[in-house]
Amino acid sequence: MRILIILISCLLPFSVADDLTQISHNEIPNEDIVSDDESKWRLEAIHKMWEERRKMGHTPLVKFSPPGFPNTDIFFKNETVSATRTLKHRFAWALLLWAIVEGKVTSKTSAVYDATSGNMGSAEAYMCTLVGIPYFAVVSEECEQEKIDNIEKFGGKVIKVPTALRTTKSNEFAIENNGFYINQQKNAALAEEFHESGDFINYESSNVFHEILVQLKDNEKQTSKVPDFFVHPAGTGGTVSSVGRYVVKYGLPTKVVLADSQFSVYYDYVIGNKFTNQTGEKVWRAPGIAGTGYGYDIVPIQYGETTSLTKNVINEAMKMPDIATVAAMRILNEMGYNAGASTSLNFLVCLYKAYQTKQKSSNNEYQLTIATLAGDPGDFYHSTYLDDGWVDTHLNYVGGVTAMECWKKLIQESIDTGSNFYLNGLTMCS
Ligand SMILES: Cc1ncc(COP(=O)(O)O)c(C=O)c1O
Repeated sequence: MRILIILISCLLPFSVADDLTQISHNEIPNEDIVSDDESKWRLEAIHKMWEERRKMGHTPLVKFSPPGFPNTDIFFKNETVSATRTLKHRFAWALLLWAIVEGKVTSKTSAVYDATSGNMGSAEAYMCTLVGIPYFAVVSEECEQEKIDNIEKFGGKVIKVPTALRTTKSNEFAIENNGFYINQQKNAALAEEFHESGDFINYESSNVFHEILVQLKDNEKQTSKVPDFFVHPAGTGGTVSSVGRYVVKYGLPTKVVLADSQFSVYYDYVIGNKFTNQTGEKVWRAPGIAGTGYGYDIVPIQYGETTSLTKNVINEAMKMPDIATVAAMRILNEMGYNAGASTSLNFLVCLYKAYQTKQKSSNNEYQLTIATLAGDPGDFYHSTYLDDGWVDTHLNYVGGVTAMECWKKLIQESIDTGSNFYLNGLTMCS
């Protein structure tokens, strides 16, 4: 009898082959299958997101031609006109779209959490509110009140923690509350596919460099259609890497330059692969340049974990002293540009690229086109970088207001006459 049972069970798989799928259906519960209700919610959410992309349109491209560098055009892509007033509007759009498409965020998600220096918080709050999911921004205790107001204005809630614990705490809160930690540092690279969404019928790519190229192409007065340089700092590294990938993918001649702040360790990471197994806490000095740089966290730089900065698509990295960036911010704001901290860092690096290119050229026949971003408005920094008392307290170790005024003079001189503000500043203003 026993031999007979063994014989039958050996033959069974062959005799019931047609029923195998039915057997797996019955015996293997598949929790990944999307229910009809969930598919409906997802489709509606995605429609709302594409409607938002349509509303975003193209942010303006503003030309600045420093009189001291008559052969140089600096184009600021003005991201501050977006609904949440920062470059993070398009990134939060791409990140949430990724999370919805892949089912990381569903109709049942109790809340989305993220660690943010503030700007991503308002953009994520806006996007989550759009699709009806609660949102919590985990910010530093020092986060500017202007940015907190912006997060709350777009329906987000704010949790303050020590700067170095923002990422670990966001994760903990999400686990405790059965929510989703969307992790902009880690997932910017995944959102990339959605940044560069490939112009499907009427759904235009939201990649910022794609827009810059379209705008230069459409501008009849503009002869140079592809920028020689794209300049931008890294916070998550998502924006600059999204441009770098675009440039490499389409074989463009543009050089991508990482603009880094004085005490950030991203420069060393890009140039020498440093700080991947030790934190930057000993190098980092607060406040840095808001929204940019790395070193403040208790966790080292780990690609795909704590950063999305993709070294292989960056051609060059350049650092500027923080107090010089604040001086540039003052100049831009006095000129009426309403420029935030990272915009001013961008501007300084662009100005220095203009100086370097002029030095390298033996005649004056070259034409240099540099593209960069106006990341957020000066309005967010009236109580910090744009306040003399704050500068003297928080940037005292780099010379406070006296050093700032010194740099201001030299930067203005460089804009007007094409001089080397950087070398002069290091010798005269420190
Ligand atoms: C004003 C501003 N500029 C630049 C950045 C850096 O952008 P990314 O995180 O895409 O590297 C940020 C990030 O928060 C920011 O808020």
